[in-house]
Amino acid sequence: MTKSASLTFGDKTVELPVRSPTAGPDVLDIRKLYGELDVFTYDPGFTSTASCDSSITYIDGDVGELLHRGYPIEQLAEQSCFLELCYLLLYGELPSPEEMDKFRTTVTRHTMVHEQMHNFFRGFRRDAHPMATMVGVVGAMSAFYHDSTDISDPWQREVAAFRLIAKLPTIAAMAYKYSIGQPFVYPRNDLDYASNFLHMCFSVPAETYEVNPILSKAMDRIMMLHADHEQNASTSTVRLAGSSGANPFACIAAGIACLWGPAHGGANQACLEMLREIGTVDRIPEYIEKAKNKDDPFRLMGFGHRVYKNFDPRAKVMKESADEVLELMGIHNNPTLQVAKELERIALEDDYFISKKLYPNVDFYSGIILDAMGFPTSMFTPIFALSRTVGWISQWKEMISDPALKIGRPRQLYTGPAKRDYVDLAKR
Ligand code: CMC
Repeated sequence: MTKSASLTFGDKTVELPVRSPTAGPDVLDIRKLYGELDVFTYDPGFTSTASCDSSITYIDGDVGELLHRGYPIEQLAEQSCFLELCYLLLYGELPSPEEMDKFRTTVTRHTMVHEQMHNFFRGFRRDAHPMATMVGVVGAMSAFYHDSTDISDPWQREVAAFRLIAKLPTIAAMAYKYSIGQPFVYPRNDLDYASNFLHMCFSVPAETYEVNPILSKAMDRIMMLHADHEQNASTSTVRLAGSSGANPFACIAAGIACLWGPAHGGANQACLEMLREIGTVDRIPEYIEKAKNKDDPFRLMGFGHRVYKNFDPRAKVMKESADEVLELMGIHNNPTLQVAKELERIALEDDYFISKKLYPNVDFYSGIILDAMGFPTSMFTPIFALSRTVGWISQWKEMISDPALKIGRPRQLYTGPAKRDYVDLAKR
């Protein structure tokens, strides 16, 4: 039976179709609302608005569930790897062994960047934040790879996707190397995706660098846990930018810019900086009080989520990885870790956090692992960005081939002055 909902406004009633998703709440289709009732809906922050159809990722925030193409993130993190997840997100199904081989080879063969990009990097100040450099360089990819900017050509869209997934780690590693004054390190095709990224970040020409398999497994997991998260702020930014027909490199650069904010991907850097600022366990109560104080803008970074109101399933997996990496690096009780553990314990027992359903999110633990691996805090969000690129590009491709695609153009509730006449400067 087709469901509908009727809405009466003034003396008119409109019948709104109700669409039922594979999972999750029903969705009222309000597209004809303005045409028939001459009213808009008001939903800042889109807390009640589905902006598109999507078959890529599903989140059930009440039970703490994250599915990619139907597969639970816990199973993927345990049994799959980042590149296989990329394939799944892009094409909808797990690959056969032959498809996986071909995909891996294609991504691996695209990891080098145009040599002239090296000069482009040199235009940035050495002390630039790597996210600033990435926004610029990824945007500039459209100037280096124009042969994959025609969005009406499915083959060019495919090539752009490969280029972005393959080159983002190279660009992030170059941004890091540039910021510390070391030479750029070329990618190595004999290494897997995560190991190659560690190699490009940590090896130097003067000595041999062996990638530790535990660290590369942890890095692969970090990438998997950040790969996609349905219509979050940066993904919605990519879709909005893409809805105008902008090329994929420009759209992903827009996504990176959005991700940088501390309420989103920038939280991993902000969280570790907060743990360091707290410094010692005895200062935690002071910060908990600050977080609860309505007049203080301070928030506990790494806590809370718009959708997850039970727990963040990514945080659970990330916590396990954190334990493995800390054990390997022999970090048992450094002050930051002590503060993190105690903060987690206190917050989880505190009425304020319990009543508002504020749990540690993925960013709470990722920073601890990345710090233990030797990354500076400024590299945390770039690592999130390179991992999320596959999600962004999968969502962008899905949108471009959606027959219902329209330019994204929200309306507003205007609160400015009513129409008035201009007053000549001399008379004011
Ligand atoms: N510390 C203290 N209070 C908080 C926090 C926090 N981290 N997060 C939310 N609250 C309070 C908030 O003050 C509000 O209280 P009240 O109802 O009294 O006004 C209530 O909880 C609801 O918060 P909200 O801002 O309306 O919720 P939101 O869904 O708009 O925001 C969030 C979600 C993630 C932006 C927010 O929880 C936050 O700012 N967290 C810290 C930043 C962070 O860790 N972000 C990473 C998110 S996960 C990775 C990603 O997706 O990028």
